[in-house]
Amino acid sequence: MTAQIQEIIDLLEMQPHPEGGFYKETYRSVGAITSESLSSDYSGPRTYSTCIYFMLVSGKFSAFHKINQDEVWHFYDGSPVELHTISPDGKHASHLIGRDFKKGQVPQLVVPGNHWFASKVSEPDTFSLVGCTVAPGFDFDDFVLAKRETLQRSYPQHEEVIEAFTH
Ligand code: GUN
Repeated sequence: MTAQIQEIIDLLEMQPHPEGGFYKETYRSVGAITSESLSSDYSGPRTYSTCIYFMLVSGKFSAFHKINQDEVWHFYDGSPVELHTISPDGKHASHLIGRDFKKGQVPQLVVPGNHWFASKVSEPDTFSLVGCTVAPGFDFDDFVLAKRETLQRSYPQHEEVIEAFTH
């Protein structure tokens, strides 16, 4: 990891994320949604919304995982993020979150709830800094990290991308 990347991690007070990369929660609403108002996918009450900084470093990836809620990604700095989604009915899509709009990159991307998703920096020797916002607020109880064999059994047509983005 370069000194520049370490400096950004330190300045923004980020810590390692279990899915890969580094993060810092920058916002957690005070208000909460009661369990009765949420679907049975949620194990308890949740805050209205949360937001994080999320930093990916070249050569590592954020492994396939899913959460119940939609997640909005916002591009901030560095190189574009390559993000893969697999929908519950098995459709794979790849996206580039970045600033080169002429090349089809987008500054904002919504990952629908309950879709498997994984990501990495699209270029070597650099980083991507993005924001991720969810509503209801994030809770590790809603976070499911994929097991490679289980995901490949569910979606054999996407064996290669699952191999590349699971541990
Ligand atoms: N807080 C901790 N981890 C995460 C995450 O993966 N996404 C969001 N939106 N918030 C988090």
